[in-house]
Amino acid sequence: MKRTIITGGNSGIGYQAAKQLVQKGWQVTLFCRNERRAKEACRKITEETGSGQVDYKLADLADIRSVRQAAAAYLEQNRSLDVLINNAADFDLSVKKRVLTRDGLEKQFATNVLAPYLLSELLLPALEESSDGRILNISSKGLIMYPRISLDFDNLNGEKSYSPSKTYYQNKLALLMLSLYQREQYPKVSVQAVRVTNVKLDISRYPNLTPVMKAVYRLKSRFSIPAEKMAEVYTALASEAGFDGFLYDEHCKEVKANRSAYNKTEQERLYRLLGELARR
Ligand SMILES: NC(=O)c1ccc[n+]([C@@H]2O[C@H](COP(=O)([O-])OP(=O)(O)OC[C@H]3O[C@@H](n4cnc5c(N)ncnc54)[C@H](OP(=O)(O)O)[C@@H]3O)[C@@H](O)[C@H]2O)c1
Repeated sequence: MKRTIITGGNSGIGYQAAKQLVQKGWQVTLFCRNERRAKEACRKITEETGSGQVDYKLADLADIRSVRQAAAAYLEQNRSLDVLINNAADFDLSVKKRVLTRDGLEKQFATNVLAPYLLSELLLPALEESSDGRILNISSKGLIMYPRISLDFDNLNGEKSYSPSKTYYQNKLALLMLSLYQREQYPKVSVQAVRVTNVKLDISRYPNLTPVMKAVYRLKSRFSIPAEKMAEVYTALASEAGFDGFLYDEHCKEVKANRSAYNKTEQERLYRLLGELARR
């Protein structure tokens, strides 16, 4: 039986991908920060698929110690892993000031970039033991609105300025750079990225948004695809053969990343920095 970990699998696209992979007969472990939401997701997946091949580990991805504990608890229980899906992300437009984690890191960067890096490193030995180990890192189509974006190494921790959306796109670019670097660093594992398009959001998850922002989200949702549809791309890249490219869109078609993502010197700089930060 194939095994996968999906971070943030208790809602949205991650939840739908978990359900689809359980339906295919996979064992799925959700890495979630909230026990009530994790249990509820497992209960619903079990009820909707008729399979109990889903469980969870508690992991606050914004907390290095929690990430390490969750990875260790998973390996102790399961030992093997075929696919790691770094799906969870922190993006809340109502947060106006940067939040620092207990490790002294800006919370979005810790969740969206450092945690995928650290999970990949901690779980790499298990993925390498699989006959077909894979890592999927989840990025955003919104990056096409910033064709000239480059990673601002001087503001990774929000020390110069902070806005939740600028930080989010910097994080998603960093994740693409990390993924490209991992493709060279991890020869025994395939690393791919997904360019998620506009997907229907559960707005009740963001109670602090202003009425205007809620209205914008409602308007956006008219032009968005259901989470199930986007999850089909995760499921295909996790479980099917024939995807040898790097970045895939909502049609499972290979697309180009932003130009700056391919800068090897910057990729290496980021990878080394993440290694230093993860040692905190
Ligand atoms: N929806 C879109 O239109 C869209 C567009 C482009 C890219 N994406 C990307 O697609 C992926 C999935 O998005 P989605 O729309 O399905 O989002 P979602 O429904 O908001 O799910 C996000 C998940 O991440 C989890 N999470 C956030 N911070 C966490 C932390 N510190 N520790 C553990 N888990 C944490 C959330 O857990 P809680 O339930 O505990 O909050 C939730 O399960 C993300 O990478 C997102 O950036 C989405």
